Amino acid sequence: MVGHEHPRESPAGSERIAVVYGTRPEAVKLRGVVALLGDRACPIHTGQHYDPEMAAAFESGIGFPPPEHRLAIGGGSRGRQIADATVGLESLFAAEPFAAVVVQGDTNTALSGALAANAGRLPLVHVEAGLRSYDREMPEEHNRTVVDHLADLCCAPTTTSEANLAHEGIVGAARVTVTGNTVVEAVLALRPDAAATNTILAGHGVEHDRYVLATFHRPENVDDPDVLSTILTELAALPIPVILPLHPRTAVRAAEAGLEPLLDKLLVTPPVGYREFLGLMGAAALLVSDSGGVQEESSVVKRPVIVVRRSTERPEVLGTFSRLVPSGPGVADAAREWLDDIAAVHERLANLPSPYGDGHASALTVAATDRLLASR
Ligand code: UD1
Ligand code: UDP
Repeated sequence: MVGHEHPRESPAGSERIAVVYGTRPEAVKLRGVVALLGDRACPIHTGQHYDPEMAAAFESGIGFPPPEHRLAIGGGSRGRQIADATVGLESLFAAEPFAAVVVQGDTNTALSGALAANAGRLPLVHVEAGLRSYDREMPEEHNRTVVDHLADLCCAPTTTSEANLAHEGIVGAARVTVTGNTVVEAVLALRPDAAATNTILAGHGVEHDRYVLATFHRPENVDDPDVLSTILTELAALPIPVILPLHPRTAVRAAEAGLEPLLDKLLVTPPVGYREFLGLMGAAALLVSDSGGVQEESSVVKRPVIVVRRSTERPEVLGTFSRLVPSGPGVADAAREWLDDIAAVHERLANLPSPYGDGHASALTVAATDRLLASR
């Protein structure tokens, strides 16, 4: 099950840090940490995302190095993914004497990395710690909570997430540090310039500020055919074109539910590379999404986002960059409210700083990791 892909000349085994990832957002948000760790980083891909546009091709497009080890947990049930990844990682951690393990966020991959680190008695660093939606229907809420409690170092993006950790008894300068979110430096480093953005827009046949960019993949939105149908109908009712890069989960569910006629009314594309997505995001009139990362990125590219969810673990941007609209009817009305005065909305957001920091989160994370290792 374990593939050994790109063994590298590296520092002594005990200095190496296993960086465990497996999905698109983890690659985006660990990119800076891996770059700063250099040869000390041992990237390990669990294979949770496996289609080229979600994995290898996507990662090479953002400069993420090829993994040294690859598992193949993709496509399984939640329990199967967590079980296979935990066993696979545990055997990798037993074979090489890592100094620490880094995981990011709230995926099944992150939980598995944390469990395997715990089993191997390795120090665990959690990047993007302390987020809480308090929505117990979401697997991610359980994943991130368990990871935080297992972690030796929690890198909280904001003081809000730091307070969430404190509320659960996770405290102390040695265990919790506020870093900002590593997504900020990813956006700043990879966002295309004006000329490249124009080329991207031309490729999609849309004009600056005259389209909506939408993404959906959450079970609450795509697993129930009626809910998915309502969301697609709402998007099709908007007065300007809607670009919808289709997450594989959503593509599978839409096909199962026979919703192709609704998709035909939108500008549907396969998932696009990160630079292209950032270009589309920064020139959109507005965003409609259930993505975690898009909520944070909206505050960097200064575009408003309608969050189609019943809850969010990103309250820092609520009421400024984002607005919560639960799945179902109401998405089109909320979008029209913003679209009616979109130039003024953009002007207001242009002057608001991102609550997720100024692009130094990866450096602060690596510095805190080094302090953790020096203390042991
Ligand atoms: C996962 C994460 C979610 C994150 C999202 C980012 C968990 C519990 N969920 O959700 O937090 O926001 O990634 O995109 O870890 N599929 C493919 N090809 C792929 C990947 C997925 O076809 O490359 C399809 C398969 O049918 C698969 C389904 O999508 O069963 C769900 O994939 P999975 O990785 O389990 O969850 P995501 O919905 O992608
Ligand atoms: N993204 C992308 N191409 C797409 C859709 C999304 O590059 O077609 C980026 C998006 O900007 C974000 C990341 O992928 O940084 C993660 O998105 P996703 O919504 O899959 O995961 P989440 O953030 O909800 O966990």
